[in-house]
Formats: sequence, structure tokens, C-alpha cells
Amino acid sequence: MSNFSNKNGNLCLDGVDTCVLARKYGTPLIVTSEKRIRDNVRRLVGVLSSFFSEFDVKYAMKANPNPRILSILRSEGLGIDASSEQEVRLALETGFRPDQILFTPNFASRSELLWASASGIPINFDSLNQFRQIGEKVPPTVSFRINIEYGKGEFKGTTTSGHDSKFGIMDKDAVSAYKAAKEAGAKRFGIHVMAGSNVLDPDHTAHVASSILEVVKKITDANDIEFSFIDLGGGLGVPYQPGAKELDLTITFRNVHDVFARVFDGVKMPKLSIEPGRYLVADSSVLLGSVTDVKIQDKVFLGSDVSMNTLIRPALYGAKHHIVLANRLNDEISGSYQVVGQICENTDRIGTDIELPEPRIDDILAVFDAGAYVASMASNYNGRPIPGEVLISNMGEEIIRSPSTFSDYTRNYIFNRPGKTSPNAGKGS
Ligand SMILES: Cc1ncc(COP(=O)(O)O)c(C=O)c1O
Repeated sequence: MSNFSNKNGNLCLDGVDTCVLARKYGTPLIVTSEKRIRDNVRRLVGVLSSFFSEFDVKYAMKANPNPRILSILRSEGLGIDASSEQEVRLALETGFRPDQILFTPNFASRSELLWASASGIPINFDSLNQFRQIGEKVPPTVSFRINIEYGKGEFKGTTTSGHDSKFGIMDKDAVSAYKAAKEAGAKRFGIHVMAGSNVLDPDHTAHVASSILEVVKKITDANDIEFSFIDLGGGLGVPYQPGAKELDLTITFRNVHDVFARVFDGVKMPKLSIEPGRYLVADSSVLLGSVTDVKIQDKVFLGSDVSMNTLIRPALYGAKHHIVLANRLNDEISGSYQVVGQICENTDRIGTDIELPEPRIDDILAVFDAGAYVASMASNYNGRPIPGEVLISNMGEEIIRSPSTFSDYTRNYIFNRPGKTSPNAGKGS
């Protein structure tokens, strides 16, 4: 059930008029429903608990690391998948315990690995070399990210396993990696795989499970190792277009359970871990912009302050988001528009051939499914601001991130003009 509604032609989220928010807080602006995030978590946990007695869900905070969103997910009992020292530190700041976090970096520096190891953060190593860099300080639980050769994502750029993937240890090298970890003193073991993002096929996760469990069997047979968790990563998809079929969670996890039950027939099943990002937050948010111009050239360009620095997914992968005019929901479609932003790149396209009512300057553009990989990927490119974020909760609306300012943009520059100090001088860090 969508949390969006139409009130007199205006788009509302949880009953709050997004056009009013856009005018009040300015655009670009990301508006998020706390209710939708909690509903997404509870739906997923409900299905998992009907198939598995032992499981955990770690939120992939790269989807949106806003501390307020992390707090919501922490209060729902979730853990964290973090990909850098700074993400780990932000999760700790938000109240997660080290043992609720799994740190899965890619090509991490030695100092990052040593910091995580010294801080008691469970590390999911990307290679044997990475494991060796922590030296004598072998953590109590060691896990490796395995490249199972099978990979599937919505786009090539979001496929994270397979022969072209830079992630993890190839499955043929897994046995020797665990052997080395055991010899180095590791006592408990986990294993991890992340095959790709935004997959709507309910057979996909079972396929991933089946491939990783084959690797598990080889490791167990060769090294006499028991696994305390099997982490299948993220990847649960959401439909980005109206009417597209949703991922069937029941089929997905029934299939995964069947694979686990076959492999662990008569023996204790390890804990199932998953790390969804997109599934939990993507459809909880809408990105709002203001129409700044409409240009009739060979194509008709609708320009707004939603640009590729705010929403990079279309330029990065060819991703498509559903787009409407939030203040014109009752108006008839008049044509097809190229929805573009303000950045000096001709790849700055937010949507191609988008059917809309005839746009006017100052109309409010709404881009759906903006809760994952939007705010977290936003930059100040071209000196454009990173958008503000507003959360709608039971308490009403709440600013959870201020839009970036000129001071933010210039914060780390050293101004060398005689007599001219940085606009941030004296403001602290
Ligand atoms: C290691 C890892 N886990 C989880 C995720 C989350 O993926 P998704 O947002 O598709 O669920 C990612 C995303 O790239 C990832 O790299």
C-alpha cells in the first residue's frame, strides 16, 4: 500500500502536502515517511520469522546513512552493514553496538582495518591480503566476502559478483582463505556474498544461497570449520515504475529456506543474515524540485533544481524513476518531456520522455523512490547544494538534514587572498 495520496491535485505523503513542504523548506528537498520505513522492516522481518528461527537483518547504511533513519532502524532491532570507517563511526555515534555491525570494506587501507580490529568491529574481509594486514590481532569471528561467479543486479553497474566484479574472494580460493584464517587463530567463522542490487526475481536469493552453500560445504569438508552465520547480502528489489510487480518476499525466503533445509538436513542451521538497503528505504521518500524553465528545442526540456548532483542514478546506471508534477496531479497529460537539471553536463538527465501536464515555472516536480542511494550519493558538484531532508512521523514533520550552504561548500578550502579569511574562519569543525 502506497503512503502517497492526492489531495485536491497535490501529492501528499502520509497525509502531509508535499507542495507545502517544498515551499516552506525550499527545493531540492527529500521527504521521508517514518511509517513506510517501519512498515517495510516489519513486512520483511515477519516473512523471515515465518521461515527461520535464527536470522538477523543489517541495514546497508550506504542507502541513506541519515542518523535519524539509523535510529528508526535501530529501534526496530536491526543491525548495520557498513562499508567504511566513517560509516562504522556514524553507526556507533547513533547508538549501535560494535557487535551489531558488520564492516564490509572493499580495498580498505591497512589503517582502516587496524582501526576496526582494535575497536572490536566484526570485519568481513574482501581478500586474504586484507585479512593478513591485521597481523596478529585476529578477531574472534572471521568472515570473508565470496565472489560466487553468479551475479545479478538491475544494471551492469549494480552487479557485484561474477567474473567482472572487483569484490570479494573468488569461490575457488575460499577454501585456502578459511584454512589460513583458522591457522592464524580464528575460532568462529561467517561467510558473506553480495551478488547485486535491485533484483525483483524471487528465485534470485535462493540461487545465491545455493551457490554460497556449495562453497560452505567445500570449506567445511576441507577445514573442519562450522559457520555461525551465512550472510546473503542485500539486493532485494523495489519496483521503480507504477504497476511494476513487487518482489514476492514469501516466495523469496521460502525458496531460501528450502535450500538451507536441504543442505543442513539433520544438522544445526547457521544463522541467516541479510543486508537490505534499498528495500527498507527506497519507497519511503520522494525528492521534490522546482521547475525553473521549459525550453522548446528539438526536444522539450523541463529544467528544475533536481540535478544529477542530487540524483545521480539515471546518469550513473540509466536508472529510471517515476516523475510527476506534485501540484498538478489532476491536470491532463499534455506531452512528453526531457526532465533535466542545472549541471553543466549533458548527461544531467533525471528522466527521459516523461509524460506530464504542460509544466509551468515554479511547479513542483516529484521524483519517487528517492529514499535509497539519492541523499547518500549527492554532491556539491557545480556548487549546487546537497538537498535537505524532512521526516514525516507521528510527531509531524521534522528537518533531519539541513540543505548544504555556501559555508559547507567552502569549508575545507584554504583562502589565500591577503586580508581574506575563509567564510568559515572561527566556526570550528
Ligand atoms: C556489501 C553490501 N551489502 C548490502 C548492500 C545493499 O544492497 P541493496 O541496497 O541492494 O539491498 C550493498 C549495496 O551495494 C553492499 O555492497
